[in-house]
Amino acid sequence: MSKLFEPTTVGRISVANRVAMAPLTRNRSPGAVPNDLNVEYYRQRAGAGLIVSEGTAISHQGQGYADVPGLYLPEAIEGWKKVTAAVHAAGGKIVTQLWHVGRISHTSLQPNGGKPVAPSAIAAKSKTYILNADGSGAFAETSEPRALELSEIPGLIEDYRKAARAAIEAGFDGVEIHAANGYLLEQFMRSNSNQRSDAYGGSIENRIRLTIEVVDAIVKEIGADRTGIRISPTTPANDVSDPDPAAVYTALVEKLAGFDLAFIHVIEGATGGPRDVLPFDWKALKAAYREKGGKGTWMVNNGYDRAAAMEAVDSGYADVVAFGRPFIANPDLVRRLKEDAAWNELETATLYGGGAQGYTTYPALA
Ligand code: PHB
Repeated sequence: MSKLFEPTTVGRISVANRVAMAPLTRNRSPGAVPNDLNVEYYRQRAGAGLIVSEGTAISHQGQGYADVPGLYLPEAIEGWKKVTAAVHAAGGKIVTQLWHVGRISHTSLQPNGGKPVAPSAIAAKSKTYILNADGSGAFAETSEPRALELSEIPGLIEDYRKAARAAIEAGFDGVEIHAANGYLLEQFMRSNSNQRSDAYGGSIENRIRLTIEVVDAIVKEIGADRTGIRISPTTPANDVSDPDPAAVYTALVEKLAGFDLAFIHVIEGATGGPRDVLPFDWKALKAAYREKGGKGTWMVNNGYDRAAAMEAVDSGYADVVAFGRPFIANPDLVRRLKEDAAWNELETATLYGGGAQGYTTYPALA
């Protein structure tokens, strides 16, 4: 049997196997508050060694899509308590993904209908998901953002710190900092979305500064051994690009090596798409992290099937493999991997928004 099915530890978190459920936006938490349907969805998927929750907004300003849950309202913390209790009762572990979307938002989702914030006032060529007046959902162009003032950065970091504390209060085993997929932290790291001339723009050191400061604040608040981070060095998601991703992300992981984080979660390629969108040496990225003393769990994601996941772990390259969409359609994915059973087909019409259909209705094996 592959090591994929053996227990391990992710920082201070003991996990039953090395299969993680990747974060998946499902837009089923109206008012940003997790509800009983969300409880059932996560409970069904507790066979994952580690669940990373869907992206969860650290603040109202961090919201970019309708009906995404948050961690900034007391009711949301109460809602998440039920989710984490259900996952724990079923023998699973769950961290939350701390999310600020930056410019990938819409004025209708922002406090007082204001502009979304970003490193620079450059609109993304991408879409978001908003609510119509009748409560139904619709895809819409992202709104033009405004550049964050230098004086706003400490407050932003404070929002991350508070959300990490709220996550622990809600019973999560830890947090994953969302620094991927063209959202706020990645907007700072990539040159096409960051044209600042202050300490947070220009050089690579400056562009990774905000991410490192967020990591530092969260580590001080809840401890490095329950803090992880997700990165996507080559993804074009949400209109981000950079002429030299290897330089940016090598510098980033070398700095992260100084924190003793629980895990580094790497999306290899285009998020949910081709792995080879740009040439990139994934093993060299891991080696750069290890060479600087980084000991965190190396979690990989994107397009892995059963054979590739077992090979990644058994060869010693990956410590944990995360599956995204396969977990939507297969609540018992770990059992199916173990038994080499067939996977349910994914219904794409019910991915974003709606009710139980296509959310808690996928069958487990008999
Ligand atoms: C999505 O809604 O498709 C989505 C959200 C967050 C991500 C990636 C994709 O990080």
